[in-house]
Amino acid sequence: MGVTALSPALSLGEGSTPLVPAARLSDALGFELHLKLEGSNPTGSFKDRGMVVAVARAASAGARGVVCASTGNTAASAAAYAARAGLEAVVLTPAGGTASAKRAQARAAGARVLELRGSFDDALRLARELGARPGFVLVNSVNPDRIEGQKSVAHELVEQLGAAPDVVALPFGGGGNVTAVALGLREAGAGSRIVVGQAAERATTWASAIRIAEPAHAEGVAALVDAGHLEVVTLSEDELGTWWRRLATEEGAFCEPASAAGVAALARLGLPSDQVAVAILTGHGLKDTDAVDQGAGTVIEPTLEAILEELG
Ligand code: F0G
Repeated sequence: MGVTALSPALSLGEGSTPLVPAARLSDALGFELHLKLEGSNPTGSFKDRGMVVAVARAASAGARGVVCASTGNTAASAAAYAARAGLEAVVLTPAGGTASAKRAQARAAGARVLELRGSFDDALRLARELGARPGFVLVNSVNPDRIEGQKSVAHELVEQLGAAPDVVALPFGGGGNVTAVALGLREAGAGSRIVVGQAAERATTWASAIRIAEPAHAEGVAALVDAGHLEVVTLSEDELGTWWRRLATEEGAFCEPASAAGVAALARLGLPSDQVAVAILTGHGLKDTDAVDQGAGTVIEPTLEAILEELG
C-alpha cells in the first residue's frame, strides 16, 4: 500500500483543531488575536499532523520501526502512530529533560524510551545514526514527510479565518514547525508575516519542549529571515512564563510552557490595531502539569459556611 492509501488507515483524527478568538488578550494587546489550539490533536500536540504521514511512509517502505530524538511530544506522537501501524518505536530523550506525562504517553503505547545522559542535540545525532541503519526510519522533522503533513495547519487556519491573517506566530525550537508553516502559507497564497519566539536560554529553558541548543533547521530559518518572511524574537524566561499564565487565566487556553512563545513574541513586537494575528498553541497544558504551581491546595470542612468563609 502507498503512503496516501495508508495514512487514512493510520489516522487518529489529527488536524481540524479549533481556531478561537482571544477577546481579552486582544483588548490587552491592542490587536486582534486568534488562537489555534493544536493541543486538541490526538496525542495533545501539533506533531500528529506530520507523524501520521511519516509513519505511513515508514510502514509502506517495510520498516521494522521508527526512531526519533525528542523533548517529549515527538516521542508521544511517534509511539502512538507506530503502535497503530504495528511498528516498533524507539525514542531517545535527554534524561531528566522531558515532562513525565509525555514519557508516559510513549511508554503506554509500547515505545522503547531510552533516556540518554546528554542533551536533545546528542539524542538527535544518535537518532540520525540509528535511522541510517537498515530497518529504522528517522521520524524527526528532518524527515520531509513530517513537514508535508505539518503544513496542513497553515491551510487550515487560513480557511477557518476566511482570509490570510496579517501575522502567524509560533514557537521556534528546532525549526521544523516554522518550516512547515512557511511552506503551507506559501501554498495557500497567504502573504502573512511569520513571527517566531525562541528562548534566550535555549539549552536550559524552563519550557522543556524547546530546550534545544542547536536547531536542526537553522539554515532554512535563516533563509526565511533573509527573504523577509520571518522575524525571530528572543524571549526571556519571564516573558514565556507570563504569557503562558495569561493564556490560561485570561482565555482558558491552558497550553504547555513552550506553546506560549508565539504570543510572547507578538506581545514584545506589538502590532497596529487593525491587524489580525493567529498564534499557534502547539501543545496541551496537560502535557506538563509540573509547570503549574498548585500550592498546598485548600482542604476545608464539607459545609457551605466553610466554603463561604474561604471565598471571603
Ligand atoms: N512546541 C512544542 C509543544 C514542542 O513540543 C516543540 C518541539 C515545539 C514547540 C518546537 O517546534 O522544534 O518544530 O521548532 N518539540 C520537539 C519534540 C523537539 O521532541 O517534541 P520545532
